[in-house]
Amino acid sequence: MFPIELNGSRLRLREMRLSDAERLVQVYGDETATRHLSFTPRTADQCVAVIQVAIKDAQAENRTVYMLAVVTPDDELVGAARLAIDERPHSAQIGFALKPGLWGQRLGGETVRLLLDLGFGALDLKRIWGARAPDNERSRRVMLSAGMVEEGRIRRHLRAHGAWRDSIVHSVLDDEWKTATIHT
Ligand SMILES: CC(C)(COP(=O)(O)OP(=O)(O)OC[C@H]1O[C@@H](n2cnc3c(N)ncnc32)[C@H](O)[C@@H]1OP(=O)(O)O)[C@@H](O)C(=O)NCCC(=O)NCCS
Repeated sequence: MFPIELNGSRLRLREMRLSDAERLVQVYGDETATRHLSFTPRTADQCVAVIQVAIKDAQAENRTVYMLAVVTPDDELVGAARLAIDERPHSAQIGFALKPGLWGQRLGGETVRLLLDLGFGALDLKRIWGARAPDNERSRRVMLSAGMVEEGRIRRHLRAHGAWRDSIVHSVLDDEWKTATIHT
C-alpha cells in the first residue's frame, strides 16, 4: 500500500522524504530519544540511509515495512513511526519515537493510535505488538493508554548500547481495538 497518509488531530503520518533527514537527526541522533532504543544515536549520514531504506521499502511490490514520518500540520518531521508486518502476516510490530522537546503532550499517544489505525484499518491486521525496554516508562504508559496490554517479557531480547537487554511486549488485537474507544 502506497502512499500512506493518516491524519490525527495534531499530527500526520506520511511517507518519508530525503528532505526530512535534517529533522530526523533531531530524533534518531538524540541521546535521550535513543536511550531505550536498540541503537546508539545516528549521524546525519545514517539518517539519510534510514530514509533511503524507507523509500525503497515503501516501493516494494508486497510492502511489509511502513517507516513513516510523524509530521506537524506545517509538514515538519517531529518523529518516526514504523510498522513492520511479521513473517506470519496477520501480525505486525510497531515502533515510534518523537523529538524530546515535544514529549509529555500526548503526541506519543496520538502517534501510536495512528499506527493502530493503519494496521487494523487499511492493512486489516489481527494483532499489533510493540517491545519496550523494561525501564521505558513513557513507552509503557503510551502503549497502555492505546489499549496495548502487557503480554510478557522476552528475556535477553536484544543487544543494545553494549549490553543484553530484556523487552516487555505489549499487544492489542483487532477485536479489542474495534470495541475500544482508542481510535484517533
Ligand atoms: C515514547 C514516546 C513516543 C512517548 O511520547 P510522549 O509524547 O511523551 O507520550 P505522551 O505524552 O503521549 O504519553 C505520555 C502520557 O500520556 C498518556 N496518554 C497519551 N495519550 C493518551 C490518551 N489519549 N488518553 C489517556 N492517556 C494518554 C500516557 O499514558 C502518559 O501518561 P501521563 O502523561 O498521564 O503520565 C517518547 O517518550 C519517545 O519518543 N521516546 C523515545 C523513543 C522510545 O522510547 N520509543 C518507544 C520504543 S518502545
